[in-house]
Amino acid sequence: MLILIRVSLPPPPEIDLIRLAFWIGVTLVAAALPVRLPGGVHATITTAPVLAALFDVGLANPFGVCWVAFFGTFEPRDLRGEPKWYGTLFNRADWVISGYAAWLVLFFTRSAVTSGEPFATVLQIVAAGGVFAIVNNLLGLLANSLKTRTPVSRVWALSVSNIVIGLVSQVPLGWLMAEIAMRVGQWAVVLFMVPLLLARFSFSKYTETRELFFGSVSALSQAIDAKDGFTRGHADRVSRIAGAIAREMGLAEKEVELIELAGLLHDIGKIGVEDRILMKPSRLDDDEAELMRRHPIYGKSILEPSIALRPLVPLVLHHHENYDGSGYPNGLSGNSIPLGSRIIIVADAYEAMTSDRVYRKAIGHERAMDQLNRYKSRQFDPKVVRALDALIRSRGVAALEASDLPQIEYETLAELRRRLAAEPLIRDAHAG
Ligand SMILES: [Fe+2]
Repeated sequence: MLILIRVSLPPPPEIDLIRLAFWIGVTLVAAALPVRLPGGVHATITTAPVLAALFDVGLANPFGVCWVAFFGTFEPRDLRGEPKWYGTLFNRADWVISGYAAWLVLFFTRSAVTSGEPFATVLQIVAAGGVFAIVNNLLGLLANSLKTRTPVSRVWALSVSNIVIGLVSQVPLGWLMAEIAMRVGQWAVVLFMVPLLLARFSFSKYTETRELFFGSVSALSQAIDAKDGFTRGHADRVSRIAGAIAREMGLAEKEVELIELAGLLHDIGKIGVEDRILMKPSRLDDDEAELMRRHPIYGKSILEPSIALRPLVPLVLHHHENYDGSGYPNGLSGNSIPLGSRIIIVADAYEAMTSDRVYRKAIGHERAMDQLNRYKSRQFDPKVVRALDALIRSRGVAALEASDLPQIEYETLAELRRRLAAEPLIRDAHAG
């Protein structure tokens, strides 16, 4: 607000109100089409028209660009009251500060850039646009991180990092829009809606593809739970716990996401284990146990053909390797077991002990941690067990629920099977 007052008092001598209204109008059209990204950040194509206002020399800047940034970036969700009033105010401030910062870059580099000198002009555009994009996105990331209580790195990894090219490409587009408006006429700016809509299309495609991918992985994981006879959402909870441990251990967000996905699909190989073994209510004999131990290898062969799922292969293949080398399938030990697998085995054991099963009640967090501590260094990596312990001590059991993975809100296959089994069988009339 202080910036708006500062640039408006005293008002610049010649304000071209029609020009100002024109850029506000163009920016409002662009702002009407935001795309919600997975991290909660809204991506828009308003960067280009706001920068166009900045580069338009007929606009009495910084007065012009600051007011275009203020009025032009109102989105339909602001009118619906979706972000609270302080959210709307923060977003306006974010745009105004970014616009003003970019103008400062133009102002201080003006003397160094002689008109028409291409190299210096390009450098100036890159510097002003770069400062604009950095300030704008940094403030947006910080706000979302505070709002969702998610680390900035995570919001970045989920949202902006994947569309950064679409955002940066708006910088030269903004400059071109200003040049065309000044040299050809304002009507020609309409043509720029095409590349801007393309940028928007790429944002929404990224979001859709990600949702499709996570939806498919989640459906697969549900199918495994159902076949395994585990309680509802076992793999889903393993995934959340593994992700929370990985984050507690300070792993990069990309790696955390990989571990969460591997947590969802760690037992996918059980599809290849015969039902009579998988569902046997009594103890498995030696031969049956041997067949059961093949499930990580089956998992590898199921995941390997898919390019998107291939990075999960080592994590899934080794999720039954024990820290002392007594596990399977390869008998790896210590740090030669992938860290993701060492995390998943702890999450798997903790989840199995702390949730109710058909054949026994949950043993509770304290006793589960006792068991994990007892078998650390033998079955589990002590560092991973310590991380889980520290996580629960500092943030409570609720910390294990924090995840962006979709909640399970449907009847699982196992529940459907039980329900149908209780209903009388519908006979096919032709079968006699
Ligand atoms: Fe397993």
